[in-house]
Amino acid sequence: MMERRPLGASGVDVPAVGMGTWRTFDVRGVRDVARCRAVLDEAYAAGATLFDTSPMYGDAERVLAETMGERRGDALVADKLWTTDDAEAERQAERALGWYGGHVDVYQVHNLVGAPKRLALLRRLRDEGRARVIGATHYQTSAFPELLALVRSGAVQQIQIPYNARERLAERELLSAAADHGVGVIVMQPLGVGELVRRAPSGEALAPLAPFGVRTWAQALLKFILSDERVSCVIPATTRPERMRENAAAGTPPWFGEEERTYVVRLVENG
Ligand SMILES: NC(=O)c1ccc[n+]([C@@H]2O[C@H](COP(=O)([O-])OP(=O)(O)OC[C@H]3O[C@@H](n4cnc5c(N)ncnc54)[C@H](OP(=O)(O)O)[C@@H]3O)[C@@H](O)[C@H]2O)c1
Repeated sequence: MMERRPLGASGVDVPAVGMGTWRTFDVRGVRDVARCRAVLDEAYAAGATLFDTSPMYGDAERVLAETMGERRGDALVADKLWTTDDAEAERQAERALGWYGGHVDVYQVHNLVGAPKRLALLRRLRDEGRARVIGATHYQTSAFPELLALVRSGAVQQIQIPYNARERLAERELLSAAADHGVGVIVMQPLGVGELVRRAPSGEALAPLAPFGVRTWAQALLKFILSDERVSCVIPATTRPERMRENAAAGTPPWFGEEERTYVVRLVENG
């Protein structure tokens, strides 16, 4: 069964594996929307029900709302504000609140754009009961010092950061600071935007990970991240329902120890 973890000290529990929507849900047309619905069907069936989106992702916010439909209440939506413009920020929030039944579960400042003002708006939405947890994201490690300052200041309850078996800078400072300050961590780009899964190690190379329930390379990579228990949730994106099922299966214990994590890093380095 999918493990659920606290999102820091926010009081909200999240599934260990959720799903991103960047590119994959930015679609129009009956066939593509049906495919998104099929991906969501698998996510719901597996309990991988935290869905990350943003106004930066074209039609993804709307398509997510449409394909969740009446299942909205059984999922957590992690959305974002992404603008330097105050009036546009209000419009983004009103649109999102309209799509998601009047509240956003995790509301983040996308790429730290206009961070102080956007956080002020998010605090207001939280006070009004329209956002539950507020946070900030950035996809570049060069933004880690800024995220670290926010974590230490208590201004955010959650951060979304890149972290995977190739990109491990978060281990140096950010993950422990987040844990120390009760800040939840959602991990973006867990498969390196697809790059880490382009070539998979042989079945023989993966065999030592089988006792941990790992059947595929993608599962090994996701389990590598989740075995760091300072991480609350990983959000791989996929256009394929069967891969959603495969990714969700990585959200159950047992977790890797240091030996297995080092082994996965070595497989990445040798790939
Ligand atoms: N805040 C930010 O600045 C920011 C930036 C980037 C991303 N994000 C969030 O993080 C989410 C995840 O990151 P991401 O989409 O960049 O990259 P990712 O999840 O690391 O990789 C997605 C790619 O991996 C492939 N994939 C997924 N599952 C697979 C599997 N089991 N086997 C083989 N290939 C698989 C997908 O292709 P198929 O479709 O063919 O399966 C897709 O091309 C985004 O969707 C978004 O919600 C946030």
